Amino acid sequence: MKMVRDTWTGSEEDRARVNSILDEFEGQDPMESLIPALHKIQAAYRYIPEEAGHIISERWHIPETDIFNVVSFYSDFSTEPRGKRVLWICEGAACYFMGGPQLGEVAQSVLGIPYNETTPDGEWTLRRADFCFGVCHRAPLVELDHHIYGPLSPEELRALIANPPEHSVEEDHE
Ligand code: FES
Repeated sequence: MKMVRDTWTGSEEDRARVNSILDEFEGQDPMESLIPALHKIQAAYRYIPEEAGHIISERWHIPETDIFNVVSFYSDFSTEPRGKRVLWICEGAACYFMGGPQLGEVAQSVLGIPYNETTPDGEWTLRRADFCFGVCHRAPLVELDHHIYGPLSPEELRALIANPPEHSVEEDHE
């Protein structure tokens, strides 16, 4: 099932939506359900709204600090709305020496934003990975909406950004 992404307004409807996500985990261990539930909330709103954390805490009796420690630990989650597309440039060791920084320069130039920013139209978030995606034989590479592309030349990255595939972030967590 594909979820519709929306903007968190704090309305009753938003609260009901978060509650209905939590309902899906009824009867399960809250600690084991926390990460899958956060994935669904992130996919729905492109971030974890603070109030969603309150709701989880109330219903599942998990301290809010524990919830937001999880949110800040995993790069899949964010506390600010992300773009509809999330582009990671790998600058792990292998990608770094194979041209990762050049790909990063191209991405920042084409999108007009530095790392860790989102374009004003909300379409793209650009991130720099200083870790390895575990597929160094494809260096230099990028990850777009959880799909790996590489090895890529700067021109190929320009073409990817100009004409991105239709898959989306939430498909990977459904
Ligand atoms: S360093 Fe980029 S995939 Fe390993």
